[in-house]
Amino acid sequence: MSTTTKEPYLLNVDEEASKRLNLQHDILTQMLYGKLIPEPVIKRLTSVQEAARAMSYDRPASKQVKYLKIADLATGTGIWLYSIRKQLEELDLKAELHGYDLHDNQFPPEGKREDVGFHMLNILDTLKFQEIGPTYHYIHARLLTSVLTREEWKVAIDNCLEILKPGGFLHFEEIPFGELSMEKDGAPASGGVLEKLQASMKLLKRDLDCGNNIYNYLEELELWETEHRKIDLRTCDEETKQMQNVNARLGLEEFITNAIARGPEALKRLGFESKEAALEKMASLGKDPGTQAFFVLHSILGRKPGGSYTMQLSSGSAAPKDSELEEARDEPKQIPKPIFDGALERAPEDTEEEPQPTFVVPRRGRFQVSYAVTSQNPDTK
Ligand SMILES: C[S@@+](CC[C@H](N)C(=O)[O-])C[C@H]1O[C@@H](n2cnc3c(N)ncnc32)[C@H](O)[C@@H]1O
Repeated sequence: MSTTTKEPYLLNVDEEASKRLNLQHDILTQMLYGKLIPEPVIKRLTSVQEAARAMSYDRPASKQVKYLKIADLATGTGIWLYSIRKQLEELDLKAELHGYDLHDNQFPPEGKREDVGFHMLNILDTLKFQEIGPTYHYIHARLLTSVLTREEWKVAIDNCLEILKPGGFLHFEEIPFGELSMEKDGAPASGGVLEKLQASMKLLKRDLDCGNNIYNYLEELELWETEHRKIDLRTCDEETKQMQNVNARLGLEEFITNAIARGPEALKRLGFESKEAALEKMASLGKDPGTQAFFVLHSILGRKPGGSYTMQLSSGSAAPKDSELEEARDEPKQIPKPIFDGALERAPEDTEEEPQPTFVVPRRGRFQVSYAVTSQNPDTK
């Protein structure tokens, strides 16, 4: 069913917001030591690209073909996509990059997008996702905690799975509002603004514990290779902490200016009787020396069951038994690496598809698992 959010967006989508998002990105990049793409995703992307290249080994141009497709949803300025490009380049991974967002205000101007595609898309618009279909090998979405309600998170995740290829990875990075704090000598020090903001978020049904809830939902969906990493700013270096102090102040200011624009009711939810009181509070935020803002970054990963890989069969041998397929399906980490023996190499010109599945094995629950089987004799494949 198609769903469209009626809730207000609580942050801004202007130039100032873009600057803050870029600062936020720098902080997260430091916390991840520059490794924005998790290791299991790199392994998967590498094996898909190797398999595709092997299918067209006799065409040198295949080294340059972009077989991989990566999407960043609610991309904002697209900064994550531009940053992973460097990591992909270092790994010799060639990928088409697409950024989607409800608003286009923060997209780079036409002509300055280099080779990144930008498209408008509501993450809750199920019909649009169904139209796009399973296209991407890796889907990333970040910092939606102030955007989605707990129920909407499930719709958004289901939608992401619609456009993810079987075997592809889904990756969320969130900073849950429930874990934000501003402290001085261990005591709350935001002057009540952060606490009011959290209460206001709760009222608007935002999920203050979205990190744990996203992970639980990926488990419920029986995704493969689920992973949940938490990085607490408390464990990071002083420079990163100082950057977060600036970011937290800018973030709170953004929430307050957004509430001013939305009117007296929104301001009251943040505990301000008037615009003037809100502006006065804004001017004093984070000025107290020794105040430190904290948060916890949650990185959540899951892999859509299925995906093509090949199992070598000698000519005329029987198809794998159900029990073998069952075993492979339930043990994704033991799936053999794709083996291409020449039988499949004549891919259609310029195809960007992975090898197509030969057997489709029904799975309990939401997903099906597909297996491509090669043999020495093309006729038996
Ligand atoms: C806090 S920003 C995060 C931007 C980006 N992911 C990043 O990490 O820099 C949230 C983004 O969500 C977008 N957004 C809000 N509601 C949305 C929706 N229903 N569908 C898609 N994007 C949405 C906003 O336009 C904004 O760009």
